[in-house]
Amino acid sequence: MKFFVDTAEIDAIAELNDLGMVDGVTTNPSLIKKSGRDIIEVTKEICDLVDGPVSAEVTATDAETMIAEGRKLVEIAENIAVKVPLTWDGLKACKTLTDEGHMVNVTLCFSANQALLAAKAGATFISPFIGRLDDINLDGMELIEDIRTIYDNFGFETQILAASIRSVNHVLDSARIGADVITAPPAVIKAMVNHPLTDKGLDAFLADIKAAEIKIL
Ligand code: G3P
Repeated sequence: MKFFVDTAEIDAIAELNDLGMVDGVTTNPSLIKKSGRDIIEVTKEICDLVDGPVSAEVTATDAETMIAEGRKLVEIAENIAVKVPLTWDGLKACKTLTDEGHMVNVTLCFSANQALLAAKAGATFISPFIGRLDDINLDGMELIEDIRTIYDNFGFETQILAASIRSVNHVLDSARIGADVITAPPAVIKAMVNHPLTDKGLDAFLADIKAAEIKIL
C-alpha cells in the first residue's frame, strides 16, 4: 500500500520523505490556505521534494475552466495529479485531462456509484472521504470495501486513495480492505509507531542497561 501525506507543510513532508514514508502528497484548498503559501509556489516545492504523484486541486466549478486550470497545474512538474471534485463537470474535466495523458485525482467521493463514474471517466485516483462519512454516523470503511469490490469485479484500474483519514485504525482498516493508497496527515502516520507495550518494554530494557552498566560505545 502506498502512503501519501495529506499536507502542504514542506518540513513535515521532508521529514517523512527522508524515512521513505512518502509515495506521494495530496493537497486541497484548505491545506493550501493553512500553509499560507501561494499554490503554485508551494506545489512546485513539494514536487521538487517528492518523486511520486502530488495532487493539486482546481478552484473552478465548470469543466472548461477546470481543464484550463488543470493544464496550468501540470506545467508545474511531471508528477502533478490534477484534483477535481466529483461533480458532472469534474468528471468531464477528468476525462479530458486523462485523455491528454495527465494524472487525475477525483476527490470528495462519498458513494460507490460516484466512484464507479470516476473510474468510467478514466480517473487515476478516486478519493473516498472516510472521516467525513464517520462524522455523520455513516461507515467510511464500508465505502472503501464497496469500491474495492466494484473495481475488482470489473477490473477498473483507478486506484483507491483512502482520504479523510483521521486515525491509525483508518490506516489499518484501509490496508486490510486493500485500498491502493492512503493519504493521511503527518501526525497520523507518525502515530502508527506508538504502542504502550513498546514503551513499557523499552523502559524495562533501559533499567537493565543502567543496572548492568551495559555499554556498546
Ligand atoms: O485531502 C482531503 C482529505 O484528506 C480531507 O480530510 O480530515 O479534512 O476530512 P478531512
